[in-house]
Parts: sequence; structure tokens; C-alpha cells
Amino acid sequence: MAVLSIEPLQQKEKDPPDADMPSHLAPLLLISPLSADTAGATPRYYQLYQRIKFLILNNQLQPGAKLPSTRALSCELALARNTVLRAYEQLQAEGFIIATPRGSVVSEVLAGDELSAGEITGPRYRLSLRGKQIAAEAAPSAPGKCHPGIPCLSAFPTTRWRRALLSASRQVQYCQESSPAGDIALRTAISHHVAFTRGVKCHPGQIVITEGSRQAFQLCLTLLTDAGDRVWMENPGWSGVKTAMHTANVKLIPVDVDEQGLAPPAALWQQETPRLIYTTPTHQYPTGAVMSMQRRQTLLHQAIQRGAIIIEDDYDSEFRYHGAPVPAMQGQMQNAPVIYIGSFSKTLFPELRVAFMVFPTALLALLNVPLQRLLNGGPSRHIQLTLADFIRAGHFATHIGKMRKLYRQRRQALSAGLLGLCPRQYALSSQPCGMHIILYFLQRRDDVDVVRRLRHRGITPIALSTLYHGAARRYGLLLGFGNISVDEISRLIPHIQRALNTMEGDQLPAP
Ligand SMILES: Cc1ncc(COP(=O)(O)O)c(C=O)c1O
Repeated sequence: MAVLSIEPLQQKEKDPPDADMPSHLAPLLLISPLSADTAGATPRYYQLYQRIKFLILNNQLQPGAKLPSTRALSCELALARNTVLRAYEQLQAEGFIIATPRGSVVSEVLAGDELSAGEITGPRYRLSLRGKQIAAEAAPSAPGKCHPGIPCLSAFPTTRWRRALLSASRQVQYCQESSPAGDIALRTAISHHVAFTRGVKCHPGQIVITEGSRQAFQLCLTLLTDAGDRVWMENPGWSGVKTAMHTANVKLIPVDVDEQGLAPPAALWQQETPRLIYTTPTHQYPTGAVMSMQRRQTLLHQAIQRGAIIIEDDYDSEFRYHGAPVPAMQGQMQNAPVIYIGSFSKTLFPELRVAFMVFPTALLALLNVPLQRLLNGGPSRHIQLTLADFIRAGHFATHIGKMRKLYRQRRQALSAGLLGLCPRQYALSSQPCGMHIILYFLQRRDDVDVVRRLRHRGITPIALSTLYHGAARRYGLLLGFGNISVDEISRLIPHIQRALNTMEGDQLPAP
């Protein structure tokens, strides 16, 4: 390439000889021709500016390197001189080059490694401590076979649902905003359903529709806690709530559970007085324990005395396979200090993203807040009307009845298969309810490793130890039976057995 001369950007003087000019600059700038200055296109001067800037940031033009004069470069690139001049002016204005008596040179300050790496490969992002914690706790995506909590999707009454969707599409006015708390038709249908099936005491005005239970928890945390407030949570417990708590900056107090459910030591009420208490009394997640009547009463009375609110997560109590359903704690006394949360994720399907909360009437009076904004609009009105229709027509109750029978068979098949594994090493959860079984390890073993091995086979139980806050007390596998047929269960048992057998040598040191 011809040796080009340099011209300072501001003073017009004769171009000095240009020995320092990087000989590769013009070919690099010409890798593809600059497009013409047509309407809507990026102006040529700006394209040139971007290319030189890229070379600087990429260290192909190093600090101190001298640029060709505007005249030389304009000849080399067959551009008007003013075009090059404007590009240099822009680079100079942004500090990428400086004008010196020698000509324009690449600035020392800007072309450091950090900046170049940042601009070329994208900025160096960093998660907050909270973000890191949430990311570390995130469950692996893409649930496979035996993933807990997934209902039988193939048994979903799609034709009935489609009919309800169609009928809702005739009613819905697409530009009309729904009520902030949700569509009144759905709230009414839910209030009848939960009064009848769960013993919940409420009128439709107490109900708020949310996009899943997680949003309901977030709403509770947003409206009822300040940073640092104590929130009790069952230990082990559902990780979905933990995530919501991290984002709310509250102080999470893990409270042990036993065979009667949440078991707070008496002193804890005073030492760590809660603002909120999260509990799953009718079917503790994950252990399945049912909270005894005595515990419920103590919890309700203590909560009233201490000004705490109980959040009752009633996520899958429809599925009880022996005896009558256990009623909700909310309906156990008039004006119970309870926010009841129900979800359609297990009874219908998780992608529906519809849950609901029942607020105590006294709290409702304070709820004159822009719920719509807090709930990000809530679930679509079309879906709400569809669901209202589906419940009113009796399809929801019929579906639950059918699923209860189906899940009972699947649960039996899974228990029988698991009981065939070495009984001296494992025990099964005994509660006849829900959509998963726990295979407890009788010794302290690495359940996370077993899950990792099973994942390769498309089987995704949850490791019990991961549901503890802090050190795990028990180890085992949560195996879902909702979305797996009896035949599939018998085919999977040998894989589970093999994964457990490989665990033999991986025994963890005693705690
Ligand atoms: C304990 C518990 N509560 C509630 C839910 C439902 O959550 P969502 O309504 O956000 O799907 C789940 C789902 O996995 C759960 O495990």
C-alpha cells in the first residue's frame, strides 16, 4: 500500500510524511464497501467512524498509532475528503483519537484491554448477590419423567376447554380493561368452588386473580412486608417462595416441619416474631404432612396475638386418595388471619398461569392499591372467562374426580415399584395425597448426584436435600407420578434402581 500522509484535524497544514500509518488500515476499512448515503441509510462518515472505532477497540489500531491524513485516506478509500474529516472529528470528540502536531493518533486512555473486550464481546455483566443466590437455587429446566407436580396433560379435556375458549372469545371485549382484582365471573365461580370443596369462607369480592401462585406471594410480600421483616417458611419447603423472598429483601426464618406439619418452637414467636408465615397445612410440600388440628389452632391464635398473617398455600389438596379431603385452615375460624392461595397449575395445567388469593375482609379495606399495576395486568381476560365457564359448567369438578382416580392408580404403581428396591436402605412417604412420593434414603447419601445420573435418562425427580434452607436433614428423591402411565412407571423403576446402586460408593461423610 502506498505510504500516505497525515493531516491534523483542526489545523490545515501540509501533510507530513506518514511512516507510522498502520499499513493494514485501508484494507481493513475496505473489507466491504461503505454503502451510499441514500435516504434512510447510515451516512458514510458514520460508517467510517464505526469501522475505525472497531479497529481501535479491537486493538488492531493500538494506542499511539498514527492515522493516515484525511486526504490520504480519502484517496485510498475513494471518499470525499469531508467524509473522512467528519469521521475523524467524531472520533476525536469521543476521545478515541487525539490531534497532535504529528497528526491524529489513537488515544492512550481509551484503547485499554478492558474497554476493547467489553465492546467486542459485550459488556462484562455481573449479577447482584441476590441474583447469584437465585441463580444458584434455580431448578434445572425442562422437566422429564417423574418430575414432581406435573399433572397428566394427555387426560386434559381439550375439546371442552376449546369450546369454553370459543364461547369466551364471543364475550370478551378485547380493548376493555378487566377489574384490577380479576374478572368477576371467575371470582364468583372460584368462591363457590372453594367454599364447597375446601371449606373456604369467602365472597367473590375477597378474591384476587393472579398469574400463578408465585405472583400471589410476591403481592403479599410487596404489600405486607418491609425490608428486614421476618417471614417464616417451612423447612424443607418450596423453592418458589424462597425466590420471592429473596427479591423482597425480607429475613427468611426457616421453621422445621415434623409429621404434624410446621413445628415452630414456642420461643421463636418472641425471638423472631413473624410478619408473614408461609405454610402448606393440608399437604406440606414436600413431606406431605397434614397439620394437626391442635397445631392449626395454636398457629392461628399466635398469629392473631403477634399481628402476623398466615399465607396458606393450598396447592394440590384436591388429590387425596383415602378418606375425606382435609379442609383449609382459612375456613377454620371466622376472620382467620389467613391469606388463602389456590392454583390451577396442578388441577389443570401449569402453563395456564392462573392462581387466586382470598384476602381477609379486614385486610381488603386497606387494599385500595393499584392492583392492576402490581399484578402486571394479571392473566388475560379471555383465559379468565374461559376458566369461569369451565368451572360453572361442572367440567373442572369432573376433571378433578377423574384425575383423582387416575393418580391413585399411578401412585400405587410407583409405590409398589419403589417398595421393591432394597427396603433396608429406603423408606417411602406415607401420606395418600398429592402428586409425588418421597423415596427417603435411610443413610446420608448424595441425592443430587442420583438426580444428575437420572437426568441423562430423561427422568427428573427433585433431590430432597435441595429443598432445605441451610444444611439438609434428610436425603431422598421426590418422584412425581402425575404425568406418567403405569406402564412407563414399570419401565422406569430399573433405571431408578441402577442410579441408586451406583450411589453405593458415593456415600457422603456423616454430618
Ligand atoms: C408448593 C407449591 N405451591 C404452589 C405451586 C404452584 O405454583 P404456580 O401457581 O406459580 O404454578 C407449586 C408448583 O410447583 C408448588 O410446588
